[in-house]
Amino acid sequence: MRAVVCEDWCDYDDLTVGTAPVPDLVPGGVRIRIEYAGVSFATTLVVAGKYQRKPPLPFVPGTEVAGTVLECGDGVSRCKPGDRVLAAVDWGGYAEQMVAREANVHVVPDGLPLDAAVALCISYPTSFGGLCWRANLAMGETVLVHGAAGGVGLAAVEIAMAVGARVIAVANGDEKQAILRERGVDHVIATDGFREKVDEITGGDGLDVVYDPVGGPVSRPSISCLRPGGRLVTIGYAAGEIPSITFNVLLVKNISVMGFNWGEYVGWSPVDRREQYADAVAEMMETLLGWWQDGKVQPTVHAAFDLADFRDAMREVRGRRAIGRVVLTL
Ligand SMILES: NC(=O)c1ccc[n+]([C@@H]2O[C@H](COP(=O)([O-])OP(=O)(O)OC[C@H]3O[C@@H](n4cnc5c(N)ncnc54)[C@H](OP(=O)(O)O)[C@@H]3O)[C@@H](O)[C@H]2O)c1
Repeated sequence: MRAVVCEDWCDYDDLTVGTAPVPDLVPGGVRIRIEYAGVSFATTLVVAGKYQRKPPLPFVPGTEVAGTVLECGDGVSRCKPGDRVLAAVDWGGYAEQMVAREANVHVVPDGLPLDAAVALCISYPTSFGGLCWRANLAMGETVLVHGAAGGVGLAAVEIAMAVGARVIAVANGDEKQAILRERGVDHVIATDGFREKVDEITGGDGLDVVYDPVGGPVSRPSISCLRPGGRLVTIGYAAGEIPSITFNVLLVKNISVMGFNWGEYVGWSPVDRREQYADAVAEMMETLLGWWQDGKVQPTVHAAFDLADFRDAMREVRGRRAIGRVVLTL
């Protein structure tokens, strides 16, 4: 089958399109004919051998897929051949077919386009888990979302609005800000001077929650914006720098800094607990898809590229241009 293959740890741009053997169907496995695969920065780390998890070489990169079920292994009951599905997978997404574990596969409802469904593999669950499971965001609370037009950021904005929170979205550039305003976000601001803006918007009261997929220079001033009882959820470091804090600020301000890693729930941790989490994850997916049906979340595709143009697709993400998700078409 046609696939992008990683033969040895390398720069993402040094990967090539070639062929890979069609994977064997295994008990509990679901063979998917992939139609779209998500493109995210983390894949550049995986193929460089710099990610916390290293697939066995050679491998096909790509951790988010949407497509159609071709066949199911023994014991599979959550889906059947012909179903349209999405899956967050260990690797193998940049290819025509893959075999995913049943716990990672979710049926896509009629009417939800498969390219948009890619955003429900990782972006939306990460933001749901970070805001609802970890930070316990409640109706009426004020949440600030950094990187608010990006993959996880846009998902976080919609999820926070669905919960009934007041949202302050931080995004840079007219196009990104315009999309957020179109979606009815309460306050849209730029990174520059965000601390003063938060003071103005909250009348000095501060924030209940900060959702931070950016890290680097925005994290410490974000902590300063938290009110007593406030929570900052660290999600990622798009700015390229892992921030640090001293414990005393948590004590003095009565605040919490917490992390959320979706990988834990889909089997990417040193101990694979995906089966243990399968019911909770299925319930989360049901909530997210219910919100989609009610028009509360609109998974957004910024652009679709042919598999052969996988480098251009990543350039779009790394160039900070993506609004929502970038996908590859198989
Ligand atoms: N914890 C988890 O389980 C989990 C799951 C998925 C992703 N992540 C991580 O979350 C982060 C964001 O992922 P994503 O898919 O939302 O990425 P994305 O679509 O590329 O969005 C990242 C956003 O960060 C902002 N940003 C600020 N400084 C940046 C810089 N120097 N370079 C690039 N972007 C910068 C950009 O917004 P502006 O241009 O508006 O500033 C951009 O829209 C990544 O680090 C990713 O690895 C974590």
